[in-house]
Amino acid sequence: MPYKIAIIVGSLREGSINRKIARSMCAIRDDNLDCAMVEIGDLPLFNQDLEKEPPAEWMRFRDQVLAADGVLFCTPEYNRGVPGVLKNAIDVGSRPYGRSVWDRKPAAIISASPGAIGGFGANHQLRQACVFLNMPVMQQPEAYLGNVTDDSFDADGCLVDGPLKKMVEKLADAFAEWVNTIHQARDHLLR
Ligand code: FNR
Repeated sequence: MPYKIAIIVGSLREGSINRKIARSMCAIRDDNLDCAMVEIGDLPLFNQDLEKEPPAEWMRFRDQVLAADGVLFCTPEYNRGVPGVLKNAIDVGSRPYGRSVWDRKPAAIISASPGAIGGFGANHQLRQACVFLNMPVMQQPEAYLGNVTDDSFDADGCLVDGPLKKMVEKLADAFAEWVNTIHQARDHLLR
């Protein structure tokens, strides 16, 4: 059975290149990865005062992540860091204390940018949060996708043939293997 993957995109922009990368990656490995977008644009800003009666959007988001076997983050970099909307989602999922939905979920982080550095800063800032949240994050191949523009995709939003498509195929294979490895290791340890 394919693993259920929650895709979380750090951009709310309709034509987001990161969303297109996420979609392409899932289309490539749809035999191993059963991907579903988990939307974050409607999550009220995290506020500890709301924790006693959490907003319905927070609960919906937490349930969707909890139901997944792994998480794929695809994010732009804003001012060399993680976009606020994504950081908010991370914080929402991390609470209530001791009941984080991120705990032990295998993950991969892809950052894509029209710039040459490929969102390296955001990628590593997010990685740092994932370490704290006890998420085994795929380390290789690294995925700082630079020089990605609208021209990297066709009219249907699919990657055009070329080095970027090859890289995303490689990432999709590695992520499918990573999720499998983590789940098998966990099954083995719990036996
Ligand atoms: C950007 N952009 C950007 N790019 C980058 O490589 N490093 C950066 O630090 C920033 N900072 C930044 C801040 C803000 C507020 C915006 C709106 C944009 C450009 C960004 O990479 C570009 O707009 C991408 O297309 C955004 O990704 P999506 O929305 O296409 O997925």
